[in-house]
Amino acid sequence: ARTVLIDCDPGHDDAIALLLAHGSPAIDLVGVSTVAGNQTLAKITRNAQSIAAAGGFSHVPIAAGATRGLVTAPFVAADIHGESGLDGPHLPEPVAPLDPRHGVQLIIDTVMTRPAGTVTIIATGPLTNLALAARLEPRIVERVREVVFMGGAIQGGNLTPTAEFNIAVDPEAAHVVVHENWEVTMIGLDVTHLALATTQVRGHLDAVGTTPARIVGEMLDFYGAAYVTSQGFACPPVHDPVAVAAIIDASVLEFRRAPIDVSLAEGPTRGMTVVDLRKPAPESCRTRVAVGLDTHRFWALVVDALTRIGEP
Ligand code: BDR
Ligand code: CA
Repeated sequence: ARTVLIDCDPGHDDAIALLLAHGSPAIDLVGVSTVAGNQTLAKITRNAQSIAAAGGFSHVPIAAGATRGLVTAPFVAADIHGESGLDGPHLPEPVAPLDPRHGVQLIIDTVMTRPAGTVTIIATGPLTNLALAARLEPRIVERVREVVFMGGAIQGGNLTPTAEFNIAVDPEAAHVVVHENWEVTMIGLDVTHLALATTQVRGHLDAVGTTPARIVGEMLDFYGAAYVTSQGFACPPVHDPVAVAAIIDASVLEFRRAPIDVSLAEGPTRGMTVVDLRKPAPESCRTRVAVGLDTHRFWALVVDALTRIGEP
């Protein structure tokens, strides 16, 4: 199994991403760091602990990271994720205390104490912690196996016409992450907008019939309604688990190697990811972007993970 640390801001789709990682035999989840994004750091960190309790992975260290982005003023996504950051289901109380380390330190320790080339980082929130970790302990950059982040898009945005939420919350951090010399995969809106929790998908998830699956259903009720009323979707795109699926079974996605940049300009393009697909990427290019998703097989991975989790 792949050794994975998840950096996240749960968040409904982050919560599903955590359950997918924990329930998949292809992933050994060894750490969770949290970052302010969908809601304040205190709220989303507590959500991560509650999801760990619900999913039966409270033995995995969870450490609270950055309280805000590097430069941009803090803002949250209460319109999508509610006041708690995870409105909808009734969640269990945390059963394990937080790891006392800063989330950035957990990332560094996880990478530095394991063999080089073994730890994969999946980021499903703003990239603040990853950027800080790369600056605080630059040796992690060559030791990490790869970084996969949900964020950005080849084309378009969701928070603004050009910027996706995770990048818009901390464009400077995203800039650091895509320009460091590590393997980076971008899972952007181009593919996550295909990961729709349709009525049929809901049927498959509900059929699992366990408490964690019921919690996922209740999360999708709230999150889905928010996407319908505030974003004009017919059913909700479940972004973050797609980044986890890329590690469980890369053949669920299609990728293209291409240089990625992030606009730091003030004005309408701030936080835009710029993906250069004009020609084959140069040999030295260490970034790639997802360009296709097999939605059937993607949802099958989520159903399989929930089935394996059972009643923890
Ligand atoms: C991203 O923003 C957050 O609201 C979601 O959790 C996801 O990570 C989608 O733009
Ligand atoms: Ca997220």
